[in-house]
Amino acid sequence: MLRATILATSVCALLTGVHAIGQDACVVFKSAPATLPVVSKGKASPILTSEDDWPGVQLAASNFAADIQRVTGVKPALTNFTASTSVKSTPIIVGTLGKSSLIAQVVNATQLDVSSIQGKWESFLAREVTNPLPGVDRAYVIIGADKRGTIFALYDHSEQFGVSPWYWWADVPTVKRSELFVTANGCSHGSPTVKYRGIFINDEQPALQSWALEKFTNGTTTSPLGSPFNHLFYTKLFELMLRIKANYLWPAMWGSAFAIDDNQNQFLADMYGVVMGTSHQEPMMRSTPNEFSLYGKGTWDYVGNTQNIKDYWLAGAQRAKPFESVYTLGMRGFGDLPLSEETNIQLLQQVVADQADILKSVYGTDIESIPQIWTLYKEVEGYYDAGMKVPDYVTLLWADDNWGNIRRFPLASERSRSGGAGVYYHVDYVGDPRDYKWITSSQIPKIYEQMSIAVDREATRLWILNVGDLKPYERETEFFISLGWNATRWSPDNLNTYVSSWAQREFAVSPTVANTLVDILGNLTRFNARRKPELLNTTTYSLINYREAESVLASWATLKDVSTKVYNSLSASTKPAFFQLVHHPVLASANIANILVTAGMNNMRASQARLSTNALADQAEKYFEQDFDLEDQYHSLLDGKWNHMMDQTHLGYYYWQQPMTNTMPAVNRVQARKQALAGVMRIVPEGTLGAWPGDNSNQCAQGYNCPPPSLSLDPFSPFGNRYIDVGAGGPVPFTFTATSSEPWLVLSPAQGSISPKSPEQRVFASVRDWSQLSDGANMATITFTATAAKQPPLRVNVVFTATKHNLPGDFKGFVEGSGAISMEAAHATRNTPVNGVAWKELPGYGRTLSGVSTFPRLGNDEASFPAGAGPSLEYDFYAFNTIANSGNITVTTYAAPSWNAGEKDRPLAFAVQLDGGAAQTQQFIPRPAPGGLPAGWGGPDGFVANGVVSVVTRFGGVSPGKHTLKISAMEPTVVLQKIVINTGGVQPSYLGPPESVVIR
Ligand SMILES: *[C@@H]1O[C@H](CO)[C@@H](O)[C@H](O)[C@H]1NC(C)=O
Repeated sequence: MLRATILATSVCALLTGVHAIGQDACVVFKSAPATLPVVSKGKASPILTSEDDWPGVQLAASNFAADIQRVTGVKPALTNFTASTSVKSTPIIVGTLGKSSLIAQVVNATQLDVSSIQGKWESFLAREVTNPLPGVDRAYVIIGADKRGTIFALYDHSEQFGVSPWYWWADVPTVKRSELFVTANGCSHGSPTVKYRGIFINDEQPALQSWALEKFTNGTTTSPLGSPFNHLFYTKLFELMLRIKANYLWPAMWGSAFAIDDNQNQFLADMYGVVMGTSHQEPMMRSTPNEFSLYGKGTWDYVGNTQNIKDYWLAGAQRAKPFESVYTLGMRGFGDLPLSEETNIQLLQQVVADQADILKSVYGTDIESIPQIWTLYKEVEGYYDAGMKVPDYVTLLWADDNWGNIRRFPLASERSRSGGAGVYYHVDYVGDPRDYKWITSSQIPKIYEQMSIAVDREATRLWILNVGDLKPYERETEFFISLGWNATRWSPDNLNTYVSSWAQREFAVSPTVANTLVDILGNLTRFNARRKPELLNTTTYSLINYREAESVLASWATLKDVSTKVYNSLSASTKPAFFQLVHHPVLASANIANILVTAGMNNMRASQARLSTNALADQAEKYFEQDFDLEDQYHSLLDGKWNHMMDQTHLGYYYWQQPMTNTMPAVNRVQARKQALAGVMRIVPEGTLGAWPGDNSNQCAQGYNCPPPSLSLDPFSPFGNRYIDVGAGGPVPFTFTATSSEPWLVLSPAQGSISPKSPEQRVFASVRDWSQLSDGANMATITFTATAAKQPPLRVNVVFTATKHNLPGDFKGFVEGSGAISMEAAHATRNTPVNGVAWKELPGYGRTLSGVSTFPRLGNDEASFPAGAGPSLEYDFYAFNTIANSGNITVTTYAAPSWNAGEKDRPLAFAVQLDGGAAQTQQFIPRPAPGGLPAGWGGPDGFVANGVVSVVTRFGGVSPGKHTLKISAMEPTVVLQKIVINTGGVQPSYLGPPESVVIR
């Protein structure tokens, strides 16, 4: 198993700017003791390389020199050192151990101890040496243990100098410095946590492909497939990948074929230092079906067309042999569908055995050292679980469910395979229950939570992230790779540091602004992950309960405002980067919420005969146009550099697949010149879809002759008041008064004027002083009276019940309000570890606040805890009611839709107890058929659409009063987000009631 080793640290935090994320710091911007100049007083130290080093290192060294010039304006001399080279000042000596004769000479002369990196995959060290070369008394050496070790060392320094890995891909400006130094102790890095850290360019139409066609071709390509992904595109990508320390690529494959789209592609990938692979469904280094359609003989049917398919694969292996590759093994059908009905395990085993023979014939006998993967994706996972065997040296690549939940991790018995295991993960997806490929919607805390299980369970040989079009997933992509580079650096407690360091690196903002951006980005991705924008509709968020839709809009408005303030404060050169990486996703995502909620309100108000319906229709149309304006603004940046990158449609899905254009949700209009039959005034209290006076199907079950509307409030209702909307029922202006039958009820405002120009007024009702009320129900009647010219007064009564509860003075904990107790899982009253395993918060995780999960995941000797005996979270709460006074309550625990991380017979589980009663075991993910999906996973109301599984536990015989809910761990990797106890008043909503009042 590969774990990162930190070889040496030399943090000069005070002297460094923040241009690095989680690395050792070895760059300072002014002269200090124990530093060496890179650029000082207008002079750059020369850079020495060796002619016999890797061409990829030569290339990175020349980029490194260019980076120094980007930062300082001074171009260092870059020279291949020979005996006749005269070296004037303290040089920077760059090279690869075991490859560069220059480095051999330096190590020999200085007796530098390189044992810490020797033979260690991709590791490097950099530091001061004395007398490295004849006539040179001091130098800074940058030594890689292998090709990429040297390349990563160079780019690590570049990043610290101030050149973002995204300087081209997201236009991050370089902070100019006149002085640049490296510390004598330098920096170093051991082998990365994950050996192959890759990205998968996928689902690349419409955005990336159209963009690349415009930018890297003159409209036509030499690719037999018409693909624009030529070497001009890929070399840009390779450079970015190496700068973020990725080393592995699954290339674009929708109508593209890497090796034939441009015959320089494979050569240049290898030259740059990028290991190529092909996606899970494209065996033997060939883009399939594309290449097979062009060059294959016969049909893609291994039984009937064996030899032709073997020949096809042989050609793939021969073609890839000169280059560093990871072979995908196995076989799937065209178009990401299972092969055929007759496909069985034996056939697939034969396929893999034949592929081994092909590799043997091409590479000679030692094929165990060739990295090979077998992806356990969809039905293939079922074959494995049903007993299909692959050679031990093949890496088993486990996959997520396409929605960020890894389906399975290596079991203890599977962790000693020589090929190890890996993970295929998604931040972009095409498929059920719906595509998500428009905008960032994956949360870094969730990526961390899942991928850190992979680290714990030793699925660290290879990680590959489906990044769709790459943009706009820049930050999540880099985080995934950074975690794979050095997982020991990141924990639930410092993920915010990742984002704040990132913000400082990309936008050169102060730590304070960076923390603001942590909030913005945390909320942006939280809101988009609650439910992917593609799955939102006009009534996802309740229009009537818990002020849910309105508070969603208010939160988005806050994000927009803050993001706009930061955007406006930035220099012109920083704005394009900020727009791409922060501002556009905030504005565009917020606007989707505006379009949908506005249309939802519009639809509801039409059914309520409210004149304001029409203004909302206009507003929804304006937002809909803004959606395209924002797309256009992105495309117009920097003279159209990113034209097409936001082409992805995202509004108006009819099924899982993207719509062919964006469609506005249907809006309604009411006849603005006609008065509602029931009169000038419409009364709509909070919590109902109905409207009064007149008939409405939502007033009561019968839909006509319904009683007057009613509202209730208790002292612990989260909002502290209720509202009644007074609306225009047509063109006639009127004034209204709101009066209460009881003096304890406060109405604000108590009167108003309504007209077509100002067609709505919200009136709030609250209790003046609860102590003046008697215990239990206190009734009042609110009368709304409308006065309009030439019409008799119109009256509507609203019955208001204020229920006074008494809480014992010494109670501490959550208090029932409006028949519900809602608690963030992280806000437990007590948290009790067992056997060294404890619940711990994952800040920023999930839909509302955070998640909690048990750590360490391999604790308790990886054994289960019996129900009720595990580490526990206890929640003290006070209930005034039970459901319809039955003594029953229900507890809904919102759990993350994670998959079973353990043995097959150990599904995810936790236990729920009330007041020390019997522990009820909850196994909340139904066991799927092999390779299948659990019941409840899919559909618009499924686990992944909702981002949670609602786990319901029922208790009976409960009396009002103080109680303790206890949740105890049984299996690791369960993540809980929020708990809602229904004592009779829980109303439908997407996120559940807001958190209850808590007495501390
Ligand atoms: C060093 O030598 C290599 C191999 O001949 C060459 O490709 C490279 O351009 C040289 N570098 C410099 C800076 O001359």
